[in-house]
Amino acid sequence: MDATALKIEAARIALGYVEDGVKLGIGTGSTANEFVRLLAERVAAGMKVVGVPTSERTASLCLQLGVPLATLDEMPQLDLTVDGADEVDSHLSLIKGGGGALLREKIVAAASARMIVIADDTKLVDTLGRFPLPIEINPFGMRATELAIAGVAQSLDLTGPITLRMTRDAPFVTDGGHFILDASFGRIPDPRALSDALHAVPGVVEHGLFLGLATTAIIAGSDGIKTLHAKPAPGSLRQT
Ligand code: A5P
Repeated sequence: MDATALKIEAARIALGYVEDGVKLGIGTGSTANEFVRLLAERVAAGMKVVGVPTSERTASLCLQLGVPLATLDEMPQLDLTVDGADEVDSHLSLIKGGGGALLREKIVAAASARMIVIADDTKLVDTLGRFPLPIEINPFGMRATELAIAGVAQSLDLTGPITLRMTRDAPFVTDGGHFILDASFGRIPDPRALSDALHAVPGVVEHGLFLGLATTAIIAGSDGIKTLHAKPAPGSLRQT
């Protein structure tokens, strides 16, 4: 099975968790797109769902395929979010933001009673950090913010290149109007400590460590589907 087939398979299993009438957070990325395509088929067949998209890209795809949408302000408490991830560990801690949508993704996931992560098995890791950690920052004073990030990381024995994400010759701009630094720290043995340290840096808007948010991960491999469940961790952002 190729990577796309695995993504479709994970998305198909996740769709089984979507009940009629659900208020649904809808993720961003190539795996989430497969989920939207399958969801749209169900909607066309009569299923009632209202989705809150985690990016303008996802909103466009949903509108194009006829999936009804609301804003998070119109529907601030969601039953379920289905989203992809860049890395998943066995505690269902995640790295997200490879597609640049991490801020809205985290706000939507935290407003959802459950979060299902869908991924192919190349995303499953023992320790987070192989994938560079996306950190969304305010453009103002970004060099100072970068230095502060390097400083707090070093205090946790994490070092490595921190690079401004670019699209051609200009910085990549998120849906919220911010920039992204990709931090290649390597293995992150204590994601909670790094998360807290990054949140203490004033120019950091949000980072791509999703801790205590995912309740289920559906991981598709050529040898079949692995479903992992987690209990909400202490200090979880989840509101319900
Ligand atoms: C978007 O910002 C990301 O968090 C995506 O959810 C993540 O990068 C997974 O994307 P793919 O499904 O395309 O790998």
